Amino acid sequence: MCVKDYELLHFFSLIDYTVISDRMEILPRGFIMEQMLIRFNDVSFEFAHNKPILDEVSFSVRSGAKITLMGQNGAGKSTLFKIITGMIKPISGQISVNKNMTIATASQVMAHEDKDLIITEFFQKRCNVESFELKRQMSQVLEAVNLDAPGEKIISSFSGGQQARLLLASALIQNPDILLLDEPTNNLDPAGIEHLMYFLMCYEKTCIVISHDADFLNAITEGVLYLDTYTHKVEYYAGNY
Ligand SMILES: Nc1ncnc2c1ncn2[C@@H]1O[C@H](COP(=O)(O)OP(=O)(O)OP(=O)(O)O)[C@@H](O)[C@H]1O
Ligand SMILES: [Mg+2]
Repeated sequence: MCVKDYELLHFFSLIDYTVISDRMEILPRGFIMEQMLIRFNDVSFEFAHNKPILDEVSFSVRSGAKITLMGQNGAGKSTLFKIITGMIKPISGQISVNKNMTIATASQVMAHEDKDLIITEFFQKRCNVESFELKRQMSQVLEAVNLDAPGEKIISSFSGGQQARLLLASALIQNPDILLLDEPTNNLDPAGIEHLMYFLMCYEKTCIVISHDADFLNAITEGVLYLDTYTHKVEYYAGNY
């Protein structure tokens, strides 16, 4: 029996899907099951008929991994994040996310419906706690992204770079086990990129980052998931971009 079979058996024992293979054997519980947080197994997706975004894609992400998701504009990277979070359902295949784990995404752009919110409402939407606790957590995540944002200030009055910091802070306040960052360096100035880079280098949880900034990615990630716009497959490459 190969290591993949160990991983599969223990990972799938945690989740809703069942995988049956006549090559699998019963193994001691707890061996590898905490390790794999996300697994895609032959997942296909398309928005329009015969225009695939993913074609039988398989990959997995282990606990604590810091991974880059790369691919050309329009390849489907943001869509892949939505599939991981369950916002979009695949056409076929299995997606397994360890059900004990929470996921938060820092989106590529500020959602239209959030632009008219004030800071406190923006964070309250993602972190439903008492106002004193919200204030405390807001102050922590705003410090982490190095942004001074008064609670009454309206989102649309912040600059593009400041909104990028708010998007990241909005994911951090959820204290997720899996952090998905969609082009977090967009609109950030060099000091902002450096700050984010050091923050992520010290970040201990699982993180997948979409970015086109090679230096940034090389500093923080240990492997690359590459979504090929022609084959619609995802390949994993260990090491830097
Ligand atoms: N809701 C939708 N309905 C129909 N097509 C969509 C939808 N969202 C995205 N697409 C299309 O799916 C493809 C993949 O889009 P996606 O935003 O995932 O790409 P991306 O890799 O994130 O690109 P970028 O690098 O520009 O951010 C694109 O051709 C896009 O036009
Ligand atoms: Mg995108």
